Amino acid sequence: MGIERIQRISKNNFITDYFNNHKPVIFESMFDNRETDSLEKIVGKCEDYKFMVTKEFINNFAETKSFWQTPDYMKLNDYLKFIKTTPGTKKAIRVSKSPEALSNQFKIPEYCHVRNDEVICQSFCANIGNFSRLHFDKFSSHALIYQLTGIKRVVLIPAKASFKLLPTFHLSRVLLENFSDKDRAKFLNFTGGWETILFPGDVLYLPMMMWHHFDYLDTSFSLTFRFGRNKFAEFLEKNCHFDMYLQNIAAFLDQDANKDLSSTIVNEIKNVTDNIELPPDKKFLALKLLYKTLYRKYCTNGESCSYYLSNDIDLSENNSSLIKYLGINRYLRNEG
Ligand SMILES: [Fe+2]
Repeated sequence: MGIERIQRISKNNFITDYFNNHKPVIFESMFDNRETDSLEKIVGKCEDYKFMVTKEFINNFAETKSFWQTPDYMKLNDYLKFIKTTPGTKKAIRVSKSPEALSNQFKIPEYCHVRNDEVICQSFCANIGNFSRLHFDKFSSHALIYQLTGIKRVVLIPAKASFKLLPTFHLSRVLLENFSDKDRAKFLNFTGGWETILFPGDVLYLPMMMWHHFDYLDTSFSLTFRFGRNKFAEFLEKNCHFDMYLQNIAAFLDQDANKDLSSTIVNEIKNVTDNIELPPDKKFLALKLLYKTLYRKYCTNGESCSYYLSNDIDLSENNSSLIKYLGINRYLRNEG
């Protein structure tokens, strides 16, 4: 399914038709800024500012067995030179604070002023062939993504389809970058997802907690305005670990229509996070269980069955019992 494209609408229409329904949309020509419509002009605005550059998170994990990585800090011009000399790199400017000289070129769109939270402007830049793998943002805000230059393909999948996505915490183990166009179209039909191409000047509204994947079809630069985080989502982001169950609970708490239940739900979670008697490992397990209970109570529409084997059952090829019975024993000699 493609994402709807619209021109400017009133803030009230945006809230009722898209924001409240967590429905993505693309605004055409929201900004008209010739000062920043090419990489050269953006480089000119950023001058000596150093952006945070990181590897793709799962690639880094596969290499180092750790999610921790020490970022590089590079001027935009140096990053652009780097991707010319290292064309296959998966390093990118991701989730990096934007320099004021750049963000000041834009008036924050009125759509960002839905709640009384701070609007944060971040920069993203990557080379052709790079990608951001399927994940949702733990920061729990809504976002407007303004494509300044270059093109990228975006895939969005709603939070309610998480049980079809092999999720681990906020990451999916589905590698969409390897799907053929035909398989991806069928997969999006199966998950109720959307796909489109973002062109320069397009502004994508990305609802909070929605799964997203980007393929860079070109070297491209975008700005993300994060906004609309309510106090419940902020509490969860600052105090809790995320998985697909909390993702769906957070999406439920974001709906003003559910605000009568929100304090009750958050207080149940807070009782665990504030319990100083619980050591971190027990707290983690207690929250994991509570998330499932709350999810089944508030967030399912009869779709509570998992599409994958629970992570609690280790069916990996590293499991010693499986290695013995399904692997090594196959080669035992009959000594009798
Ligand atoms: Fe993201």
